Parts: sequence; C-alpha cells; structure tokens
Amino acid sequence: MTNLIEIKDVHHAYQTANGPLPVLDGLDLSVPEGEFCAVVGPSGCGKSTLTRLVTGLMKPDSGEVWLHGELVKSPRKTVGMAFQNPVMLEWRTIMQNVMLPLEIVAPSMSKADREKRAMELLELVGLAGFEHKRPSELSGGMRQRASLCRAIVHKPQVLIMDEPFGALDNFTREDLWQTMRDLRAKEPFTCVLITHDLRESVFLGDQVVVLSGRPARTQYVLDVTLPADRTIDVLYEQQAGQMLHTLRDQIRIAQGREETHA
Ligand SMILES: Nc1ncnc2c1ncn2[C@@H]1O[C@H](COP(=O)(O)OP(=O)(O)OP(=O)(O)O)[C@@H](O)[C@H]1O
Ligand SMILES: [Mg+2]
Repeated sequence: MTNLIEIKDVHHAYQTANGPLPVLDGLDLSVPEGEFCAVVGPSGCGKSTLTRLVTGLMKPDSGEVWLHGELVKSPRKTVGMAFQNPVMLEWRTIMQNVMLPLEIVAPSMSKADREKRAMELLELVGLAGFEHKRPSELSGGMRQRASLCRAIVHKPQVLIMDEPFGALDNFTREDLWQTMRDLRAKEPFTCVLITHDLRESVFLGDQVVVLSGRPARTQYVLDVTLPADRTIDVLYEQQAGQMLHTLRDQIRIAQGREETHA
C-alpha cells in the first residue's frame, strides 16, 4: 500500500512580536491511500498548522510534505476541506453551494452533471428535499452534512477536516460520524481529521495519531482494530474502552501531566 500523505521531519516556527514560536518539531506522519487518520493533541499544539501544511497553504521551515508522490510546494486543488463552522454562501441554495468546487475544478462539466453529482451526495447524507433551501434555513447539523458533500463533491485525493463536528451537540455529532462512515463505504477517500474528541477519533479513525504538546511531534500512533462497519455501540465495548484509556493517558503525557490509572 502506498502512502498518500507522507510528512517527514517537519519543523515550523511562527515569527511573532516576541520572537520565533516553535510549533512543529520533527513531525512525522504517514497516511496510506484510503485510510482515515485522526489526529488528537493538546489545545494549541499545532494541529491546525499541520492542516495548512498538508493543503500547501503554508510551507514548513524544514522537512517535507508529500501528497500522492509529489512534494507539496503550493496550495492544492485536489484537497477537500471541512471546518468547524462551515462557510456557506447564503445567496446560493444548498445544491449550488455543494456544486461550487466542481465549477472551479471541473469547469467543463455540464450543469446537469454537476447537479446530478451534488444530488447523489445530498441523498447519501439524508438531505434530499433540502437541496433548494438556503443555508440559513438548515440546522447546524444539516449545514455540516452539506459542507461534507461540498468537501468531497470533486472527489479530492484527500479530505482534511479541522474539528468539523466540534460545534454540534453530542447526538447530532454521533449521527454525523455514522454519515461519515457511510460516505466512506460508498466512495472511499483518504482523510485527516483533527479532533478533540477521543471517541470520535476511535469511531472514525483507522489510526489515531497523538501529537505532543507544543512544539508538536508525533508522540503515539494507535492502530484502531475495530470493524470498518462499526456502530456507535462499539464505543461502549471493552476493546474500544481500552483504546480510549490508552489515548487519554497519551493526552495526559502530551499535556505534561503524566499519571496512570489502575
Ligand atoms: N499565523 C500565526 N502567527 C503566529 N502564531 C500562530 C499563528 N497561527 C497559530 N499560531 C500559534 O501557533 C500555535 C499552534 O497553533 P494551531 O492553531 O496550529 O494549534 P491547534 O493545535 O490547532 O490549537 P486548537 O486545538 O486550539 O485548535 C498556537 O500557540 C498559536 O497561537
Ligand atoms: Mg486548531
């Protein structure tokens, strides 16, 4: 299996009024094609910075970021993105918002084909019937579903998500995790998900990468050995419970508050 994303020994510091602020310190990360990599770590350790490097919005001071065998040197069109607060264009309908990346990446595609593709995804995430609504007419959870459709409508090589479910209530969030699982089963894509939610990382991830405190490096990698068609119930079972304990311990270590439970 080839690695779609390969991050090698990346160092980065921001220049601030108080001098350089080292944020990434020898970060390594490998994500095989089709895998889902969840990234967790203490607040402010450099997770969003990592997403900017993978998308090519920023260049590291040193080290290499590879995407599909190419060194990333500038912003990539082949990357889909989803954030905590989806930015939707209010003057466009939900379907028109979802179609937007196709207008940029595939301008020669006919309008009918664009609509067909957008509708296919909206149906998959349970938004059929809402395609002609404006973003403000939808709930936060529905808007986030639509934004997931928009992020993958052009079949990007990789989907990068920075706390996409962070603003949602627990039950809506769990619904979205299952939607995400179903989307991946229908159209496999490689994914990097930044999250603060350890349950989310175990439910969605094939691997969970724990970053150390700032400046961040890869502190721990957990292989999630749960079935691909896992349900929320799996989180209440022993195997997932042990993984969550391990991750919680790793987060404590990352926060510099090492302690062990019995
Ligand atoms: N453009 C910038 N200029 C200067 N400092 C920055 C810049 N962007 C981020 N930082 C600092 O770099 C550190 C890492 O920021 P980053 O946003 O990557 O952290 P994060 O892990 O995503 O945090 P959170 O969990 O709170 O979202 C923080 O201390 C932040 O203040
Ligand atoms: Mg962040």
